[in-house]
Amino acid sequence: MNDLAGKHIVLGLTGGIACYKSAELCRAFVKEGATVQVVMTEAAEQFITPVTMQALSGRPVHTSQWDPREANNMPHINLSRQADAIVIAPCSADFMARLVHGRADELLSLMCLARPIATVPLLIAPAMNREMWAHPATQRNLVQLAADGATILGVGTGFQACGETGDGRMLEPQELLEDIVAFFQPKLLAGRKVVITAGPTFEALDPIRGITNHSSGKMGFAIARAAREAGAEVALVAGPVGVPTPRGVRRIDVKSARDMLAATEAETPRADIFIAAAAVADWRPVSEADHKIKKDGSGSAPTVAFTENPDILATVAKGARAKSGALFCVGFAAESHDLVKHAKAKRERKGIPLLVGNIGPLTFGQDDNQMLLVDDQGVTELPRASKIECARRLVAEIARRLTA
Ligand code: CTP
Repeated sequence: MNDLAGKHIVLGLTGGIACYKSAELCRAFVKEGATVQVVMTEAAEQFITPVTMQALSGRPVHTSQWDPREANNMPHINLSRQADAIVIAPCSADFMARLVHGRADELLSLMCLARPIATVPLLIAPAMNREMWAHPATQRNLVQLAADGATILGVGTGFQACGETGDGRMLEPQELLEDIVAFFQPKLLAGRKVVITAGPTFEALDPIRGITNHSSGKMGFAIARAAREAGAEVALVAGPVGVPTPRGVRRIDVKSARDMLAATEAETPRADIFIAAAAVADWRPVSEADHKIKKDGSGSAPTVAFTENPDILATVAKGARAKSGALFCVGFAAESHDLVKHAKAKRERKGIPLLVGNIGPLTFGQDDNQMLLVDDQGVTELPRASKIECARRLVAEIARRLTA
């Protein structure tokens, strides 16, 4: 994946212990295909050296507005004109105050002020002690920075270098990377609410055992991330999986198909889009034993009676039609053979406008996928790609159909 290919990022460092994370962030940007120009304040140089940042970015670091290396001696103009974004990470409380006042007496603040405000976005990742973060002056400055067009990337909570615990830590490099990648994605679903089911369900037999399947949840989680990147409010109803929750996504953990149906029905009335990516168990044991089922010594296995689970997608789609609601429902079909035939039939049977077909054994647990889109116009085969690229493509296809 090269989520930042072709992007040029100016990474600004200001004075804070979180500078140790900026080295990792710089590396993460480069790994995703971006070119990175580092600019550091004098205070930042107390925490990490320009040599480290030069080695990681592959470019000499700028620290002064009086740098004779620039032919016209105007680094504040030259550096900001080439940028797709300026990211200040860490952004100290002092630097926020400087930005609010339009100060310009050192290179980084001068460059932020001199940037073409309409075309070069400014993103800031604050980092400071919890008392500094909570101070009314800092909170006031945050509001003003947002009003002036900056994107505030938020802060983390936890143990701080000063020994205190609370809000104000800089976000982790991977979190910042995810937010910045998301920032560059087109906002195709802005203002929409999306509900997604993902992962397997677990149908208990007794307190110890149950039946489930091989779904890893990766595809549903990738769709949740892509929908969030596209600006949607996302509720992710997840069966038991160990996949990390995408940033900005609200996750509701469930176990059984019936729990998944209840959680989904609680979310869909306010939704615009429902995407059923879960591999729901078709059947569950008729009853769940209160205690572990023990061997009785006879050598014979217990007989388990099964009953059919509710079809979440069909139920939700039917409910939305009954209320002549505008819920756009998308289903998945994981098949082992005759994909096109089964996918077409499944779309009709579930009464939904769009169905995504894939060959189950070729996608379960994998990091990439190949999707087949089936709608009333016919069948479209999409190229094999990573699950996040497939998810972004699917989001774009849904957005196109919603606005059509
Ligand atoms: N689905 C659902 N609830 C179920 C079964 C399936 O919401 N109880 C959804 C899945 O999330 C998926 C679609 O329906 O979007 C198709 O799932 P799949 O398991 O492929 O199809 P089934 O309806 O179970 O049909 P079959 O097992 O006969 O292939």
